[in-house]
Amino acid sequence: MNVFEFNIIITLQNNTISALFVGQNLLTLKEVDSTNNFLKNLLSNSKPLPEGTVIMAERQFAGRGQQENKWHSEPGKNLTFSLLLNPAFLAILNQFDLTRAISLGVFDALKPILGDQLKIKWPNDIYYGDKKLGGMLIENMINGRQIKNSIVGIGINVNQEDFPDGASNAASMKQILHADYDLRILLSEICSHIEGWYLNLRAGKVSFVRNEYLNRLYWVNENRKFKTQSGVFEGTITNVRDNGLLVVKNNNGEEAEFNLKEIEFLNKQI
Ligand code: BTN
Repeated sequence: MNVFEFNIIITLQNNTISALFVGQNLLTLKEVDSTNNFLKNLLSNSKPLPEGTVIMAERQFAGRGQQENKWHSEPGKNLTFSLLLNPAFLAILNQFDLTRAISLGVFDALKPILGDQLKIKWPNDIYYGDKKLGGMLIENMINGRQIKNSIVGIGINVNQEDFPDGASNAASMKQILHADYDLRILLSEICSHIEGWYLNLRAGKVSFVRNEYLNRLYWVNENRKFKTQSGVFEGTITNVRDNGLLVVKNNNGEEAEFNLKEIEFLNKQI
């Protein structure tokens, strides 16, 4: 039996996902290096995969985060999954719109559960207060000037109670709610909301997606401290460029744009 056949069996038995196509083809793995790697291999080695295929893992032993970081997650307690999308309608230049749509989907699924302290931290972290609840690693495969496939890896800290010392900024839903949350129900909610925002993007509602992303952004329009190569400064996030660069206005009224490697948010007093 190859992995694709195995996939179908699992899907028929267990699928409780309510979205129309995101998560309808669902494969749950006991253990894998990284669900992003697994989905990438599946895509290159098997028959065409349906858009919306989700690979979820109970344990990842080499989970990957942004900027070459590792993603640690206690087995069986959290959501670690990857989703396949084929946003052929999206030019590479606009790939950050996909990041926006996915962030909005995850945010909107969690908001009714967690409330007003939930924010999207630029570019695509999910924050509760000043703590990180989850993040995403989106890997796009390009065809000419368009995106052919997108592997959207998502990690959410759900029922984990303790984090290693090195992850002092991490938090989980359990720490907020003081109760376990059902991983399957949460996955279903996230798939439905991602699908909704993805369809908005596909329908050309780009300004709507951009505005709603900005509305949910951590520290937007607040005077805060940032660190760049040139030092620490106070400023205000005023915008996110179409291409995803963060726009911060310093207290002299000058605006500058930053990519992820160029700016750090300083939460703590210095
Ligand atoms: C980050 O905030 O640094 C991104 C974290 C992304 C983690 C998820 S877990 C599922 C998928 N598989 C991976 O190896 N990484 C992503």
